[in-house]
Amino acid sequence: MSDYILVLDEGTTSTRAMLFASDGVLVASAQAELTQHYPQGGWVEHDAGEIWLKTLACANEVIPKAGGAAMIAGMGITNQRETVVAWDKVTGEPLTRAIVWQDRRTEPLCDALRGAGHEPDIQSKTGLLLDPYFSGTKMRWMLDNVPSVRAAANARTLAFGTVESWLTFKLSGGATHITDASNASRTLLMGLGDPGFDEGLCDLLGVPMDALPRVVDMSGELAHTARSLFGCEIPITGLAGDQQSATIGQACFAPGETKATFGTGAFVLTNQGSVIPKSDNRLLGTVLMQIGGKRTYAIEGSVFVAGSLVQWLRDSLGIVGAASETEALARSIPNSGGVTIVPALSGLGAPHWKPQARAVLTGLSFSSGKAEIARAALEAMAHQTYDLAQAFAGDGARWQTLRIDGGMAANDWMAQDLADMLGITVERPDFIETTALGAAMLAAAGAGLHSDLGTAGKAMRGGQSAFEPAMEEAVREERLTRWRRALEAV
Ligand code: G3P
Repeated sequence: MSDYILVLDEGTTSTRAMLFASDGVLVASAQAELTQHYPQGGWVEHDAGEIWLKTLACANEVIPKAGGAAMIAGMGITNQRETVVAWDKVTGEPLTRAIVWQDRRTEPLCDALRGAGHEPDIQSKTGLLLDPYFSGTKMRWMLDNVPSVRAAANARTLAFGTVESWLTFKLSGGATHITDASNASRTLLMGLGDPGFDEGLCDLLGVPMDALPRVVDMSGELAHTARSLFGCEIPITGLAGDQQSATIGQACFAPGETKATFGTGAFVLTNQGSVIPKSDNRLLGTVLMQIGGKRTYAIEGSVFVAGSLVQWLRDSLGIVGAASETEALARSIPNSGGVTIVPALSGLGAPHWKPQARAVLTGLSFSSGKAEIARAALEAMAHQTYDLAQAFAGDGARWQTLRIDGGMAANDWMAQDLADMLGITVERPDFIETTALGAAMLAAAGAGLHSDLGTAGKAMRGGQSAFEPAMEEAVREERLTRWRRALEAV
């Protein structure tokens, strides 16, 4: 019986194929790092051809562990959101490098649109702000600056899509050009209550509607892989942006339930039910789920730098040999000795939204060393999350508990520090790969292995541990004062 689920987890730094059994047990996985291209300061690009080939190689590595493609009931794809791929519908080849969500090059365009007074209307329609983070201005930049993209637009062979859309196109042998509603809600081109892309928004950003994919559900029979790829067709039955997928993997199904994923960046989403969110505190409104045409929304706080700060300490400064060493370093000292980091290495996201901000490291003295800097880096995670907590509370979405996941969440010191600084219980599932699990749940429900998402969650999710707040108030206040002072310097 075919009862495996194959998940393609397309992160910013790596692509993975993960094979799940219908009870949520991870049977096999394969991973490949993605080359990060930084052609100029503030620019970040990926090679979409590399993403495709490495994803295909990873899928081919794990499929035999299921006993072949025929044993796979459904495939789920979850992806780094906002990253834009441009390709030619006829050749199926990328026309230029993908512009990654972290890329800041469209700030002048965002600034011009803000200056022309478009932000309030865009925010009320899309739930988003005019920041280079989102896909729409990246598409416009490609049209204006890459002749092959403009030529394909003129010839009506241009296809734009986020990474799930690109992979679905390639996997289907070029037959299907779709995007799921959660990814579509990150483009600036779709109203949160609209079924598809909005003509007015596309006109404003100069994006031709015929280059855009069709907006579809996140669970169900959405597409099929071409027979030639794996020997038989595999139905694609789940699609989701990675943060929405993690929210589903954390079973945040009821309004108010909140998760925070500490991956490359840190992304907090609170379920808002069927009500379209409106933020007065510079948070985002986004589609959390669309199943059977019915939408659930979330309010989101997007922090651009989390795990990437630790990676930078490892790769650029050489302060640690492995990310996991930060925990022992943080524990080796009673405090950071006043050292504070504001990790604005690619601008500041929510709730500050300062695209031009750059990182700050303050409070250094001759007694500061590796341990102080590593501890300050971890402390910055709770500081950034604290700012989000205030903004969410201001929008009437105060967190009762926080469910954490992502690579960094494995760090016990950081998990405890979050509970301490936020003053609430922090819960962490034993299986930390909730992004992939969410996509597996969507795909399993979509393939009919489970009757619905709730049932899939009950069958596929495991246990968890909890961290309770225990910090003295005076310590917490000192931390926040230091953080606020450092923030003023960015
Ligand atoms: O919005 C960007 C986000 O989807 C990237 O996620 O997992 O690469 O930190 P991640």
